[in-house]
Amino acid sequence: MNTSKNPCVLAVLVSGNGSNLQVFIDKIESGELNAHIACVISNNPDAFALSRATRHNIPVVVHENRGFKGRREYDAALVKILNDYGVELVVLAGFMRILSDVMVSAFPNAIMNIHPALLPSFPGLHAQQQALEYGVKFSGCTAHFVDCGTDTGPIILQAVVPVEPCDTEEILSARIQVEEHRLFPEAVRLYIDGRIVVEGRLVRIQS
Ligand code: GAR
Repeated sequence: MNTSKNPCVLAVLVSGNGSNLQVFIDKIESGELNAHIACVISNNPDAFALSRATRHNIPVVVHENRGFKGRREYDAALVKILNDYGVELVVLAGFMRILSDVMVSAFPNAIMNIHPALLPSFPGLHAQQQALEYGVKFSGCTAHFVDCGTDTGPIILQAVVPVEPCDTEEILSARIQVEEHRLFPEAVRLYIDGRIVVEGRLVRIQS
């Protein structure tokens, strides 16, 4: 938790486009978020998110999946990178890997993820398509702390969007992303302001 006036040191972990990363960059540059992105880390060397970071002079690290014996070994190397950058809060912005206990215990209640569904419904991959196939009338997004499960950690904030009869995965994803771009920085802001209390799997927001 960062309750001082110093900018909270973030790492943003990505695998793809990086539209959520871009929102964080913009909000930090405009002074809306008292944070500093120490590094952007991607497991995918081709992630467009890396170009977004470089354009803003943010250090990038490509930490590929291959070459590690398993999840725990990969994560141990990841923890070292994060510690070398002095990271306080790890932001998973479309980082398509499950974290092991090695990462989760190194950053207890200090890893946040955004998921494109109303958890605990539709965890894992293709959450928007899962929602469409199930036939729900509302979906949305969830900002949550990360534990060792697949999208199972304590829920910080959620936002709801309607599912329309003609929606495709792309259309629903775009509608959800509008809310992600509002919700995720808000969850990080609450963390930075020291307003989040985690009790078991319950998250209380202090006023
Ligand atoms: C976001 O929609 C995010 O919710 C999703 O990946 C997308 C990344 O978009 N994450 C997951 O599905 C994690 N389970 P972005 O690269 O444009 O920020």
